[in-house]
Amino acid sequence: MMHLVLIGFMASGKSTFAQQLSASLKLPVFSTDDWISSQTQLSISEIFTSYGENEFRVWEQRAYRVIMDLEQRYIIDCGGGFVLQGRMKELGRVYYLDVSLEIIEKRLCGKERQKRPLSKDFKELYIQRKRLYEKESLLKVNQIEEIIEDWKRINAPLP
Ligand code: S3P
Repeated sequence: MMHLVLIGFMASGKSTFAQQLSASLKLPVFSTDDWISSQTQLSISEIFTSYGENEFRVWEQRAYRVIMDLEQRYIIDCGGGFVLQGRMKELGRVYYLDVSLEIIEKRLCGKERQKRPLSKDFKELYIQRKRLYEKESLLKVNQIEEIIEDWKRINAPLP
């Protein structure tokens, strides 16, 4: 199944984009974080605190297999570290939401930071992850319109 896959750093706006894309492309959203929370009945920070990052990554691998088995197209809203397992392009057309470190820093202050267990060393992480996002994606985007345009073009019926 060719899903519309959104990857990028935490607070890059993947969930907001996913909701907007869902409305304009009429596709449902599968959020890896929400799926994990609903399966475990725990928030992401509770999983990190009580079970550790490794356990969370195991859940991300389970989410990957579930996505592989979906029988209709979805917009896949990936947690920031979902790419660590690789093979993103096997899930569909992968868009990397490329947002500058300055903007991420601003967004990750206060409450937003508490929700995200990894956000403490985010500068270091940002540099490491950027390489991975570039490798695992097909297109680097800043605007939602870029995704819509590409998705419509790729899915347009042949003349
Ligand atoms: C993570 C990003 C978070 C969440 C978890 C780990 C990461 O998702 O999956 O805290 O490793 O970058 P968001 O990108 O939605 O914040």
